[in-house]
Amino acid sequence: MAQSLYTSLPKSTTIFTSSTSPSCTLIFILTLCIISLYTLHYHNQQTPPPSPSTTARHPPLISTFLNSASNYTISNYLRHLTLHPHLAGTSPSSAAADYVKTNFESLHLQTHVTNYSVLLSYHLHSSLTAHFSNSSTAVPLPLTEPGLGSDSGVVKPYHAYSPSGSAYGKAVYVHHGREEDYRALASAGVDVKGCVAVAKRGGGMSRNAVVVKAAEKGVVAVVMYTENNDRARTYYGGGVERGTVLDGVGDPLTPGWGARINGDVERLGMEDDEVLKRFPTVASMPISGETAELILGSLEGARVPHWWRDGDLFGNFNRVGPGPTFLNFTYQGENKVATIQNVFAVIKGSEEADRFVVLGNHRDAWTYGAVDPNSGTAALIDIARRYSLMMRLGWNPQRTIVLCSWDAEEFGMIGSTEWVEQNLVNLGSKAVAYINVDCAVQGPGFFAAATPQLDDILVEVTKKVTDPDSLDSTLFEKWRTSTDGPLIQRLSDVFSDFAPFLHHAGVPSIDLYYGKDFPVYHTAFDSYEWMVKYGDPFFHRHVAVAGVWGLLGIHLADDPILPFNYLSYATQLQNYTHSLSKLLEGDVSLHPITSAIQELEDAAKQVEEEMKKLREEESEGHVIVLRRRMLNDRLMLAERGFLDTEGIRGRQWFKHLVYGPASEGKLGFFPGVADAMYGSSTSRGEKKEAKKKQEIIQHEIWRVARAIQRAASALKAELT
Ligand SMILES: *[C@@H]1O[C@H](CO)[C@@H](O)[C@H](O)[C@H]1NC(C)=O
Ligand SMILES: *[C@@H]1O[C@H](CO)[C@@H](O)[C@H](O)[C@H]1NC(C)=O
Ligand SMILES: *[C@@H]1O[C@H](CO)[C@@H](O)[C@H](O)[C@H]1NC(C)=O
Ligand SMILES: *[C@@H]1O[C@H](CO)[C@@H](O)[C@H](O)[C@H]1NC(C)=O
Ligand SMILES: *[C@@H]1O[C@H](CO)[C@@H](O)[C@H](O)[C@H]1NC(C)=O
Repeated sequence: MAQSLYTSLPKSTTIFTSSTSPSCTLIFILTLCIISLYTLHYHNQQTPPPSPSTTARHPPLISTFLNSASNYTISNYLRHLTLHPHLAGTSPSSAAADYVKTNFESLHLQTHVTNYSVLLSYHLHSSLTAHFSNSSTAVPLPLTEPGLGSDSGVVKPYHAYSPSGSAYGKAVYVHHGREEDYRALASAGVDVKGCVAVAKRGGGMSRNAVVVKAAEKGVVAVVMYTENNDRARTYYGGGVERGTVLDGVGDPLTPGWGARINGDVERLGMEDDEVLKRFPTVASMPISGETAELILGSLEGARVPHWWRDGDLFGNFNRVGPGPTFLNFTYQGENKVATIQNVFAVIKGSEEADRFVVLGNHRDAWTYGAVDPNSGTAALIDIARRYSLMMRLGWNPQRTIVLCSWDAEEFGMIGSTEWVEQNLVNLGSKAVAYINVDCAVQGPGFFAAATPQLDDILVEVTKKVTDPDSLDSTLFEKWRTSTDGPLIQRLSDVFSDFAPFLHHAGVPSIDLYYGKDFPVYHTAFDSYEWMVKYGDPFFHRHVAVAGVWGLLGIHLADDPILPFNYLSYATQLQNYTHSLSKLLEGDVSLHPITSAIQELEDAAKQVEEEMKKLREEESEGHVIVLRRRMLNDRLMLAERGFLDTEGIRGRQWFKHLVYGPASEGKLGFFPGVADAMYGSSTSRGEKKEAKKKQEIIQHEIWRVARAIQRAASALKAELT
């Protein structure tokens, strides 16, 4: 039998080889070995014809995919990708695009490049000096990273899209720069107006949110540092976290439509309100933890609130200022239109070429990008290599698989967003799922986030992948036993390229990674050397991520019936409603949502029944291609129901009413409801105000309820 043939393959076909050339020969021989075994299998399957049901179709495929894993090829891709820094819009970045393209082409995959012309933002000049109270001379503070030659090609630390400007003011510490942090300062009698704020990254605040809030409070400039643990400071002292301060996602000059490079495209002017509202109004830049420590250690004034000291590793500053230290801040940047390149490999589906399973990772990096994002790029190319091998063995997925290498993610998900905007109708009607990997490997421990209908298949595939850190258990076992709290996270935050797919186009999405909070994030130390020394010395974690990612691609593209479970969605929504009910005050009713969830649950159960029946009929040999397609379409389109044309108030580009960013409050779901509950427009006190606020919350609840009803009705696919 085919299955036993495959399970009896020697274990050594999992190719963990070292980098010597004999091992290349070994790979070659093993590959031949797999090919001949598969060919044998394939021929055996010719009569009778292979049954199309999941179980008969998959085992050989999945074994071929898993057995052709190679930590050697992945490490090799990563080494090439990280030879030079490759910031979006620069010429080394073009070379990185070529590298991916050439690899796809040499694997005989249909390859193309789509360019966009978008507004990027670069560093020109920056300086920061401190006037300490003990000396009359200004002390220049370092703004570069130690050991970086000027010829390294690494860009100086900066905040993309920060306005240019100079500021002179007393230094004041504002912790994470949240509303509650400013409240604490105010109650300690600290006035931040006219000051230069020192903020610590974290607390759920984006860089943009920190600067916007600071400007609101009257701060004249912001410097931001990232706190690292002791080990990181010992080995990588002086690292500075670059980043974007753009609000929202996508090219600022073409909001909502693709920034095509050729032809007639509307581009807004730089002074257009739509453009300006994306940029903060005060300047900011990043500094190292060491520089921050020097400033903070010199502050006097009010004591650091007790609850701010949590996890504070510096330990040796007690006062928040303002002053007596003055900071003299200058930043000069340049916003300019540049060409970015998305690179694609397309594997046309054999039966449903018009259904798309999209696997994506960005390629552009602040510096060398070994973790962020090229650990993911290396895994993506390795998946391409393994899919290509399977195709030479006769495989062709039922649906189309699109492998995407995005550009300019670091500036605000620009490459993926322009592409989604340009292809919105096709993706909206034909995209089955989007699977994102950004920083594939940051260290130990598997993490995954997904829209809930994909929970089951995600868990399923992690049971087939070996745990890279123990090698004798499955990834699932290790993941389950080392996770407290929910196993699978959700995708409300906007931190990678799933945002346009899920939040704008309503495509079911997954995001995968190993490790988190790596200490060299966006610094010049995010290099191949760091990866080999700390992140993944033997590249086994890379292999594991590629395994999960690639298997998800195979299932979503090739399972006859899409492996979607909407009962998980209904359950998750019930949980959200439960959490929300504890937070609501007054006479706001959640009833509209609970009854909509009931509809979704009924529809999900009905679909489940239909799936079961269809599988039975299929296994009895009935040809049910069109009915299967009809059912799959309902499964694919149900997620689109959560979209709302009006989108989230004040940020209309975000259309998804279950998952998306809230401007205030951290519900983690129902962003419109969160904004209504915590938004700054809601003032405390007056009865009338409270009533108005309740009405807005109730309205947002109705909108969510209608979104859930739309999803249920797409799943039922019957007209009323
Ligand atoms: C995309 O841009 C690159 C770099 O500017 C250029 O070399 C290439 O020819 C362009 N490709 C297409 C398809 O326009
Ligand atoms: C002045 O204060 C700064 C900051 O606290 C400190 O680093 C420096 O050593 C002091 N210089 C002198 C001469 O005491
Ligand atoms: C701040 O720095 C700038 C540029 O280095 C300098 O021209 C200016 O005089 C300084 N301002 C103060 C108040 O020291
Ligand atoms: C691949 O894995 C093997 C077995 O753990 C290890 O000996 C080898 O060094 C790894 N290769 C690379 C390039 O990390
Ligand atoms: C919902 O909550 C229950 C109880 O708190 C929990 O057991 C379950 O796992 C949650 N389900 C989801 C999908 O989060």
